[in-house]
Formats: sequence, C-alpha cells, structure tokens
Amino acid sequence: MNIRTHKIAVIGGDGIGPEVIAEGLKVLAAVSRKHNFVLETTRFDFGGERYLKTGHAMADEDINRLRAFDAIFLGGIGHPDVKPGILERGILLKLRFDLDQYINLRPVKLFENVSTPLKNAKPENIDYVVVRENTGDLYTGIGEFRNKGTRDEVAVQSMIYSRHQVERCVRYAFELMKRKHARNPWRGLTKEERGRALIGKLTMCGKTNVLTYVYDLWDRVFQEVAKEYPQILTDYCHVDAICIYIVESPERFDGIVTGNMFGDIITDLAAVTQGGMGVAPSGNINPEGVGMFEPVHGTAPSLAGKGVANPVATILTAQMMLNHLGEESAAQNIEQAVRQTLKRMKSMLAGKMGYSTSEIGDMVTDNL
Ligand code: IPM
Ligand code: MN
Repeated sequence: MNIRTHKIAVIGGDGIGPEVIAEGLKVLAAVSRKHNFVLETTRFDFGGERYLKTGHAMADEDINRLRAFDAIFLGGIGHPDVKPGILERGILLKLRFDLDQYINLRPVKLFENVSTPLKNAKPENIDYVVVRENTGDLYTGIGEFRNKGTRDEVAVQSMIYSRHQVERCVRYAFELMKRKHARNPWRGLTKEERGRALIGKLTMCGKTNVLTYVYDLWDRVFQEVAKEYPQILTDYCHVDAICIYIVESPERFDGIVTGNMFGDIITDLAAVTQGGMGVAPSGNINPEGVGMFEPVHGTAPSLAGKGVANPVATILTAQMMLNHLGEESAAQNIEQAVRQTLKRMKSMLAGKMGYSTSEIGDMVTDNL
C-alpha cells in the first residue's frame, strides 16, 4: 500500500518560535499516525541567531532548496540584537515574495471558552476569513530618501499593485467563499439576502476616497471578477470603517479581501477579537506552489525559553497546513482536539493558561 507522504520544511526561528513549533510537530506526528499519512520533516536554522553568527539571512539557494518541499512550517522570525527590517526582509518577506505566496490567509474565529474583549460577542458572531494580498503594496520596498539627513529630507515609499496581482488575489477570495459555503452557508447575510439564494459574502477593504490610484484598480478588478460569482454577495468598506465593524459588528463579515498593508493591520485587530495573538493562525499560500504556514504572533523574545507561550496559534496553523495538503479529516480532527483543550485552559495569555506550553501540546494530542 502506498502511504501518503508530505515533505515539510521546519523553521523554528527565534524567540518562542522553536517552542511553539515543537508542540505543532507533536500534534502533527500524532494526527498523521492516526490518519495514515507520513510527514517527512527537515529542519532549517534560518533566523536571528544564524544571522548573527554568519552574517547571512537567507540566500537564493536556500529558497531553491525549499522549493522541493510540500510546505514550510515556521515559528517566528526576529531578534532583539538585529536591526528591524533585516530579518523581516531577508527571511519572512523573501520567502513570501520568492515563493510567490500571494495569499496571506488569516481566519478569524472565536472558539467557545475563549474570552474576547468584545463585550457582547459570541462564537457565532466572529467567524470570517481575511484574504490579505501578500506580494505587493508598500511591502515591495520601493522608495527613496532625498536629501537624507538634512532639514529638507523627503522619504518616499511606494504603494504598488499590478492588475495581475490584484486579480489573482480577488479571484482566490471569491473561490474561497464558494468553497466555504459548503460548510458555512449564508454567513453575514440577512434573511432577505438568503431569500435571493446568495451563498456567501465577500467584503473588499480599501480606501478609494484617498488612494485614488491603487484602490481604484482594486475596486474595478473586484467589480469585474464579482460578475463571475453572482451567487456571492459583495460589499465594500473603507479600511477605517472596517476597523469599526471588526469591533462593533463582526457578524457582518464572512470574508474580507484587501491589500498587503491594510491586511497586516486589520488582522492584528481582528486577532485580538478572537482571543489574541495566542490563537491566531495564518497561511502564506501559493495555490500552485509551496506554502509557508506561521502563527501571526511573532517571536515574543521576553517569553522565550520559559515554557509559557501559547502554542494554540501554531497548532491551528498546523491545521491550516494539513488542509492545504489535502488532509482535511486530519485537519478537522485537530480543530476538534483544540476545541476540547480550550475548554480546560484558563486564559489564552502567555503564563496565564493554567498549563505550560508543552502541556497544552500534550492535551491537544490526547484529545485527537
Ligand atoms: C505579519 C508581520 C510581518 C508583516 C512583519 C514581521 C514583516 O507583521 O506577518 O503580519 O508585516 O507582514
Ligand atoms: Mn503583522
């Protein structure tokens, strides 16, 4: 019998990265045994420590080696002794750009027994997904200083999008809504809209009143692609209004699609509403290539090595990775085991969970 095998590149990274990744791998090992597939893992030491030792973040050859894998599982990258920007651009953004991971998928879901700062929100009110474009925008690093260091200094950083980048992202978001409909019809729709046989709702987040070039392009592309998906209701909100609704009425969202910069900002806000960075997973996806799956939280250097970090975000990230690899029933199994585990945790905050990092990993594994 041929056993399904997936090749995973593991990058623990810095700070709490290796600790949370260890719990993710623990759960993955157990769930793969149970669901009869094999994960072949290979470790890579990219990160701040290696950079400080060697002076190199990541080379093009490193990227090429990673192309041979089915997915990359990453903890967090960043180091207090390295100037901001070097590791971000040299590793995280290099992976996203060079592997053309043009979708940054960030589900926002409030599970039972997870406390949210939103006073009246219940799990059924917070369940949507943000599709953040992941290769363009202010992130391309294109810009310049003029008269640097003088009183006349000017700094420019360009927001750049090609139609191609926008279109493939928007199309992915519509397709995702179509797939999501199978298990979650009518989310965010009123009774009247349900009556019109609509099956889901995609909100574009932009700023067409000020960014009259870039978000005009987004708006036109969104309208065009929407015509191919008449069954999906569309909506538009400026990014500042999105921030109001994420807090005030999250139930109006089913899916949100937006550019890289707005996506970065609104997903941190959204993460807080789902219980904080301890529970927020993400996937950097190239639908035709190698994806990189990482928790949203980063390295949290002050928590590193203490066994207090919350591994739930990483475990849910592992779940997203399995979904992407086609191991849907194993992914569902992880989600159910996480739900059970959350019921026993006192808090999602590091150090206040009532359990250590590895105890949480053990509990999820036992609950599979
Ligand atoms: C994220 C992070 C990164 C980003 C940083 C570390 C470059 O904030 O994944 O959201 O801005 O994309
Ligand atoms: Mn961010």
